Amino acid sequence: MASEIRRPVQQGRRRVQGPLPGLRVVITGKGGVGKTTFTALLAGELRQRGLSVLAIDADPQEDLAHLLGFSRDEITPVTKNRRYIEEKVGSGGIINLNPDLSDIVTRCGTRTAAGIGLLVMGTVNSAGGGCLCPENTLIKSIVRQVSVREGEAILMDTPAGLEHLGRGLGRGFSDIIAVSEPTAQALRTACRTAELAGELGVQTKMLVINKIRNDEEFRASREILGDDHPFSEVFRLPYDESLRGGTGLPDLSLTEKSSLAEAISGIATLLMKKDGE
Ligand SMILES: Nc1ncnc2c1ncn2[C@@H]1O[C@H](COP(=O)(O)OP(=O)(O)OP(=O)(O)O)[C@@H](O)[C@H]1O
Ligand SMILES: [Mg+2]
Repeated sequence: MASEIRRPVQQGRRRVQGPLPGLRVVITGKGGVGKTTFTALLAGELRQRGLSVLAIDADPQEDLAHLLGFSRDEITPVTKNRRYIEEKVGSGGIINLNPDLSDIVTRCGTRTAAGIGLLVMGTVNSAGGGCLCPENTLIKSIVRQVSVREGEAILMDTPAGLEHLGRGLGRGFSDIIAVSEPTAQALRTACRTAELAGELGVQTKMLVINKIRNDEEFRASREILGDDHPFSEVFRLPYDESLRGGTGLPDLSLTEKSSLAEAISGIATLLMKKDGE
């Protein structure tokens, strides 16, 4: 499913060795577990490694945009971009959707100072799961069809819970990373989101257990999870004081020795290696 990245690319601060495939990762999980924080940190790490990264904020709260440094009035969500919607959605559905990442970022998105492309989806006023409004149609088409080309990675941050997956939001993505806290309830939601994503055709399911304070807590989480879980990889992210309160992100390149930086780096390495196989 992931498209191929064949050439080394010279973007960001480090050179990327090819061949590399594209990454299309949807991030899910229960409310407040750290989905947005993780998405932003991983986007930064992949960008740092030379990938062209598109971060999609599919949560109407727009927390990802905020965490990446944008205020509300600096962002025009796709759902507010009337011209783009009218151009791309006709009465019979999507017309002439050019699923080109740079086109979408140029027309509807923005870039962070580090060069991460950001697309904010905005709010769809949907009463229930069957919203057929042009905005919803367009959002689903964008995330499903936008192609991952050489040197590109798409990371999509989603709202809490399961409802968006029920509406088919993760369709077209190759990987899901479910984020959880080390609690039974959060782990259950993570498993459920992975199962639903599987039903949408998402192939690889991974779990990040976030806010781990010690080995014992991680061991206990693994025990709750048991052996019968849907994940091919289970990662851990430490509880990190610098993240408490959610006011900003630490610069991992400055704190390369921190266990948070090491954990994010390890996940990025595995994602890139796995997709390179
Ligand atoms: N590893 C961590 N260590 C300490 N605090 C963390 C960690 N990860 C996230 N947090 C904090 O937890 C809170 C929730 O994080 P975040 O907003 O990323 O969660 P979320 O799953 O995206 O929430 P929502 O469901 O509302 O979208 C924030 O205050 C954030 O700073
Ligand atoms: Mg969030």
